[in-house]
Amino acid sequence: MSVVALVPAAGQGERLGAGVPKALVPVYGTPLLVHAVRGLLSAGLVHHVVVAAPTGHADRMRELLTGFGTAVHVVHGGRERSDSVRIALDAAVARVADARVVLVHDAARAFTPASVIRSVIAAVEAGANAVVPVLPVADTVKEVDAAGQVVGTLERSTLRVAQTPQGFHVDLLRRAHSLPGAASTDDAGLVERLGEPVSTVPGHPHAMKITTPIDLVIAEALFTEVRQ
Ligand code: CTP
Ligand code: MG
Repeated sequence: MSVVALVPAAGQGERLGAGVPKALVPVYGTPLLVHAVRGLLSAGLVHHVVVAAPTGHADRMRELLTGFGTAVHVVHGGRERSDSVRIALDAAVARVADARVVLVHDAARAFTPASVIRSVIAAVEAGANAVVPVLPVADTVKEVDAAGQVVGTLERSTLRVAQTPQGFHVDLLRRAHSLPGAASTDDAGLVERLGEPVSTVPGHPHAMKITTPIDLVIAEALFTEVRQ
């Protein structure tokens, strides 16, 4: 029963605005993609990683990842994140015939601790078919209309933010991604649309998604801490 990980890394990183795709942006001299793939493999339970690369950057990504040998391979991603996940999933299933557990892990969450990766895998192996690492919400969340008027206040105690890696039984993720119009920034959301249960495990602040320039500053500071 192999564990495969899909790394959607085909985004342009427009909100970060670094002028190169976000997965290629360095933190302490090493691109986010390399941190993310190293993190997955060093958790010790992932057998194979498929990276979805942006158009025109697949060769550069292959070059960056050669040190990981045949455990990693790179495919061309798609227009939306969910397209990239679907392409990587097809490639993973074609390559690893006995894949049972599949993780989907954003390259942008490059510093996710091994403990989170392991607990997601353990939960799927224990029988949960869809698992999401989550954190409580610190801020009160308002719902607003198109004009910015508040229409409601959500009950904070029941809210969680979703992180990655999200873990799935491979058959369930394939079913979720074959839904008509299956577009989502969150794979577990597609499983919810199937009416299937989604479990949670505790996430970690270090699994933050690097989205805007301030996140990069935080990541640089965190990585110093992680390396000490
Ligand atoms: N992603 C992908 N394929 C796409 C779009 C996004 O593989 N067509 C990946 C990104 O590379 C990232 C993850 O999905 O690792 C989460 O997306 P996000 O944080 O939105 O990254 P970007 O799309 O690159 O950033 P932005 O939306 O600011 O352009
Ligand atoms: Mg995006």
